[in-house]
Amino acid sequence: MQHTRIALITGANQGVGFQVAKELAKDGVTVLVGSRNIERGVAAATAIGPGAHAVQLDVTDPASIAAAAQHISAEYGRLDLLVNNAAISRSERNDVALEDYTSAYAASKVSLDEVRRVWETNVFGVLAVYQAMLPLLRLSTDARIVNVSSGVASLTLNADPAFPYRKLYNPAYAGSKSAMNIIALSMLIEHEHDGIKVNLVSPEFTSTALNNYQGTSTLEEGSREVVRVARFGPNDPSGTFTRWENESIPW
Ligand SMILES: NC(=O)c1ccc[n+]([C@@H]2O[C@H](COP(=O)([O-])OP(=O)(O)OC[C@H]3O[C@@H](n4cnc5c(N)ncnc54)[C@H](OP(=O)(O)O)[C@@H]3O)[C@@H](O)[C@H]2O)c1
Repeated sequence: MQHTRIALITGANQGVGFQVAKELAKDGVTVLVGSRNIERGVAAATAIGPGAHAVQLDVTDPASIAAAAQHISAEYGRLDLLVNNAAISRSERNDVALEDYTSAYAASKVSLDEVRRVWETNVFGVLAVYQAMLPLLRLSTDARIVNVSSGVASLTLNADPAFPYRKLYNPAYAGSKSAMNIIALSMLIEHEHDGIKVNLVSPEFTSTALNNYQGTSTLEEGSREVVRVARFGPNDPSGTFTRWENESIPW
C-alpha cells in the first residue's frame, strides 16, 4: 500500500525552506511547515495550499521542539523526512556591506556572544531537533534527514589558499555551518546500519533574507539541489554533500 510521505522542514515560512515545502507539497507530500512565528507559518502553509500545515517550531526553544514532536506524533504518527533548514547568518541586522561584515566578523573581533547566538540556532538547534524527531523517524520505513549546509562550510576548500571565498570564513556563520557538518557526520555514522539516510546539501548563492537579498540565484534556481535531495527515495544514497547538480562538496 502506498502511503503519503510526511516531511518536516524547519524554517520553512520563507526562503529556501519555503521553496522546498512548496515543491514537495506539489509532489503530494504532507509538508509540515516549521516556523518560529506561527502566524507566518500559517500564511506560508496557506500560500502553498493543500498538503501544507504550519507547525510552531523555534529550534532554540526546547519546549517548542518538544511540543512540535508531540503534535507530529499525535497527528501523523511518524516522520519520513526531516529537513534541517532553519539558520541565521547573524543575530543583528544584516544590511551591511560585505567588506564591513567580513571585517567585523573576523576571528579577532566577533564577540563570543554573537558566535554563541549563531551556533545556538545553526548547530545546537539542529542537534536538538534531530534528537526530538528521531523516535518519529524510526517509525518510518524510508527515513531521511537532509541537512541544509553550505559550500562555505567546507574545511577542505577553506584550507586551500586558492579558494576565492575563504576570506568570508569566520567563527560565526561559516564556522557554524562547518559545525553543523560535524552534527550531520555524527548522525550519518550513527545510522550507518539502521536504514535512516543522512545527506548534506548546499543551495546556490540565493537571494534570501539570510544575505539581505544579495544572493545571485532566484529562490527556484537556488533551492534546486535541496529539492532534488529532499525528493530522494529508498534507493537513493546516504552520506552525500552536494550542490547543483549532484556536484560533491568536499567536507
Ligand atoms: N541563501 C543562500 O545563499 C544560502 C547559501 C548556502 C546555504 N544556505 C542555507 O540555506 C538555509 C535556508 O536559508 P535561507 O537562505 O532560505 O534564509 P532565510 O530566508 O533567512 O530563511 C531562514 C529560515 O530560518 C528560520 N529561522 C531562523 N531562526 C530560527 C529559529 N530559531 N527557529 C526556527 N526557525 C528559525 C527563519 O525564520 P524567520 O522568518 O522567523 O526569521 C527562516 O524561516 C540555511 O540553512 C542557510 O544556511 C543559504
